[in-house]
Amino acid sequence: MSKHILLVYYKTLIYYPLSVLLLIGIKEILIISTPKDIDLYRNLLEDGNKLGISFSYAIQEKPKGIPEAFIIGEDFIGSDKVALILGDNIFYGQGFSLILRKASNFEKGAVIFGYYMQDPRSFGVVEVDFETKKAISIEEKPKTPKSKFAVPGLYLYDNRVIKLAKNLKPSERGELEITSLNNEYLKQDNLKVELFGRGLAWFDTGSHERLLAASNFVEVIQKRQGLYIACIEEIVYRLGYIDSKQLKELAKPLNNTEYGQYLLALLKNDNRFITFTNYGD
Ligand code: G1P
Repeated sequence: MSKHILLVYYKTLIYYPLSVLLLIGIKEILIISTPKDIDLYRNLLEDGNKLGISFSYAIQEKPKGIPEAFIIGEDFIGSDKVALILGDNIFYGQGFSLILRKASNFEKGAVIFGYYMQDPRSFGVVEVDFETKKAISIEEKPKTPKSKFAVPGLYLYDNRVIKLAKNLKPSERGELEITSLNNEYLKQDNLKVELFGRGLAWFDTGSHERLLAASNFVEVIQKRQGLYIACIEEIVYRLGYIDSKQLKELAKPLNNTEYGQYLLALLKNDNRFITFTNYGD
């Protein structure tokens, strides 16, 4: 897997989904947003050179649905496999990078994820054959879900996704649905589901209530451990995309902030960072 698409809705949240893509080991990322917002991202992240990665930008003119990302991103994807992450999704947990790297090691078909929830009705819901890890059914926001596994906004596809996205018909609400796209893979018996365990936190921050829940979670973890969630400068440094000199440069304009101090602390490599070195998380 070498290409990724990031569909973004909330500017301030971009570091979270971005960190997920980086943890998979991806260096080429296409950011898709609205005509109004795209320049905010461009100004924030530029071409990625300073982070040792590459960002491209594209516009989704109208909210015509998530699968349109593959039509907009056709040239960017070329003949590669591709992953898509939604800009409002946050993931956090030990062992997450390993799960991602294993999941992205596929040749054909699609891989989605399943997350057990008390009430999954606000999401895509997938029924899973636990032995084969294949999807049995997948539905978008069902009133009576057939399973308790919600589908987080992170999807891995083979190159056929472009063609399949082009052939989709809009749903009743006038959008191409990601669940319809996944259903096309399911029909061909090619939709694999990796289940996330209880040690993983996943948030879709698409409502004020859920955004607040995620904010509280991030605050508790960061304050308690003194470790940042989704610090992309830290991730690219750990992955060896930038060296200590480049990290120092990135920290310079932020020197007076807690964030800048955190980046400088990385260079001293104190004990709080030992877990990353041991487990690669
Ligand atoms: C979208 C997808 C849904 C998925 C969710 C994950 O829903 O349509 O299948 O479970 O993202 O965040 P939306 O957030 O657009 O309502």
